[in-house]
Amino acid sequence: MVSEKLKTHTKQPHQELETLIIQKITQFDTEVSYVDFLKTFYGYIAAIEQKLSPVVENKGIIEDYPERRKARYLLEDITALAPASHFPSLASDIPEIQSADQALGVMYVLEGSTLGGKHISHMISARLKFESDKGLSYFNGYKENTYIMWDRFKDTLNTHTDNESAEIAVIEAANQTFIKFKNWINEH
Ligand code: HEM
Repeated sequence: MVSEKLKTHTKQPHQELETLIIQKITQFDTEVSYVDFLKTFYGYIAAIEQKLSPVVENKGIIEDYPERRKARYLLEDITALAPASHFPSLASDIPEIQSADQALGVMYVLEGSTLGGKHISHMISARLKFESDKGLSYFNGYKENTYIMWDRFKDTLNTHTDNESAEIAVIEAANQTFIKFKNWINEH
């Protein structure tokens, strides 16, 4: 199944991104550094969603897509912690999203990030000694529904990706999403 191949073929860029993020979090000294980190995430995720949404909606591949858009949570968190913030700039170097296969590969990365999000949320909360969930809605993701949402997404992904050339396109898009995200974070 393509979801299993994706896991294997994106293991390395996932690990590199994870290491980079952990390194960033261990350098947080104040809430301001976390707000900057949220802005960096927003710059990439929002730029992707702008390109992704019309393709997903046009192709009708993900029925529950409106529930899955995430940039709005980043904006909520930024506003909750720093109401007077400047609007973050958006990334221009993002993966190509023209086909349904590419859209699914990109979404694999965005949806999968909700699994690691729980760990990220704990790390941030511990590092900055947060006493509530304020500012953590993005990393808390779908909370207790995380695995239900993840399994549902994987079912759609596997059903849709039914031939080898589609698999190759999905995996390539997922890898590009990881790599370009790492580059974007490194630039900030
Ligand atoms: C400190 C940062 C991160 C940590 C500690 C982390 C950790 C994890 C863990 C533990 C899982 C497996 C969860 C499970 O199967 O129960 C996972 C899965 C995943 N994560 Fe991360 N993650 C991090 C950041 C990210 C980011 C930023 C993205 C994408 C933008 C991402 C994308 C994914 C994907 C796509 C999967 C699914 C792998 C599969 O196919 O099963 N992760 N992550």
